[in-house]
Amino acid sequence: MPQRPLYYFDNNATTRVAPEVLDAMWPFLAEHWGNPSSAYSFSKPVAQALEKAREQVAALIHADPKEIVFTSCGTESNNTAIHSALALQPTKRHVITTAVEHSANLKYGEFLQRQGYTVTYLPVESDGSIDIHLLEQRLRPDTAIVSIMWANNETGVIFPIEEMAAICASRGVLFHTDAVQVPGKLPIDARALGVDFLSLSAHKLHAPKGVGLLYTKRRTKFQPYLIGGHQERGRRGGTENVPYIVGFGRAAELAVANLSEENTRVRALRDRLEQGILTSIPNTARNGATEPRLPNTANISFQFVESEAVLLMLDQLGICASSGSACTTGSVEPSHVLTAMGVNPVRARGSVRFSLGRYNTAEEVDYLLQQLPGIIARLRAISPLDPKHPGHTKVNARMARQV
Ligand SMILES: Cc1ncc(COP(=O)(O)O)c(C=O)c1O
Repeated sequence: MPQRPLYYFDNNATTRVAPEVLDAMWPFLAEHWGNPSSAYSFSKPVAQALEKAREQVAALIHADPKEIVFTSCGTESNNTAIHSALALQPTKRHVITTAVEHSANLKYGEFLQRQGYTVTYLPVESDGSIDIHLLEQRLRPDTAIVSIMWANNETGVIFPIEEMAAICASRGVLFHTDAVQVPGKLPIDARALGVDFLSLSAHKLHAPKGVGLLYTKRRTKFQPYLIGGHQERGRRGGTENVPYIVGFGRAAELAVANLSEENTRVRALRDRLEQGILTSIPNTARNGATEPRLPNTANISFQFVESEAVLLMLDQLGICASSGSACTTGSVEPSHVLTAMGVNPVRARGSVRFSLGRYNTAEEVDYLLQQLPGIIARLRAISPLDPKHPGHTKVNARMARQV
């Protein structure tokens, strides 16, 4: 059966593994499968590959290779940074994060609250930006760490990490940033940013899932999260996932090489898609600030429709996109990010995130732009949220007017 073409616009969820990455990984699955910690010569190429990958990812973020701890994912990196700060400062029981973080932080924050810690979730403005004065105001003598994402995975809105890290440094508070959405899209200089910790996840930059890193600034005290063997210079127990780490290293190299292209070609494709939707489909709106924003992300609300229905119809055409809504106990909850931005629930429910990447083409964008108006028109024709629908009730009318 011929394969249906795939139109992948969900690169903030995960990315296709680059062929160059697969080529780099294969020998470490098939041939060089020794344990990198073993002393015999069979394992030498494995240990060397591990250190080469460490240098490659360190170069991506302008860090010293010694400052890199390989982890299993972005979630582990985030949890580890916060855990380390709390474990080493037992009298400090306050953590600051934001209301728009990935669940890797939000759920960990809830866990900490159940353990008796206090967690402050900074609010955001209606365009998804953050008021850094709020951070200054919420810092307390017992704040152990501030953990704030660099770029939002749903809207692409970029936070002023350098300024926030400087505020924390001046108050003697550790600062962690979740930079999972950033590599390949913006240049990263961990030292210039002034952060103590920075998380990355390989599967967002064309390497496989299940490997990440935590940058830990030299001289920042560190308490491992996984306690066991002496791997990663005693900073993370567990035999390193060498083939995937090798892939991560190669992907980091490619991300550096492709950075300006992502910032120009991909940005132009994203703008073409966004403008195309906003001008050709009535009652649509962008969620989040235009700038500063990741060059690949567009979050658009289609009024009077449910995003889940839009995604299903796109899926039937082989088009992948996503919404930030979450299914909880049978009902669809609007995205916590859009809710924190104060976006009206009806508008939030009709929001779709399109995130582009290295492998998207202008033809794919044009195909999406051809298909979307018909899909939205068909869904609106049967949507009781649409004021033109005969079943549109007074309640719906009121909700829709608030959009
Ligand atoms: C901003 C952000 N942080 C953390 C994560 C979690 O990364 P991982 O899937 O590697 O645990 C993601 C993944 O979607 C993300 O977008």
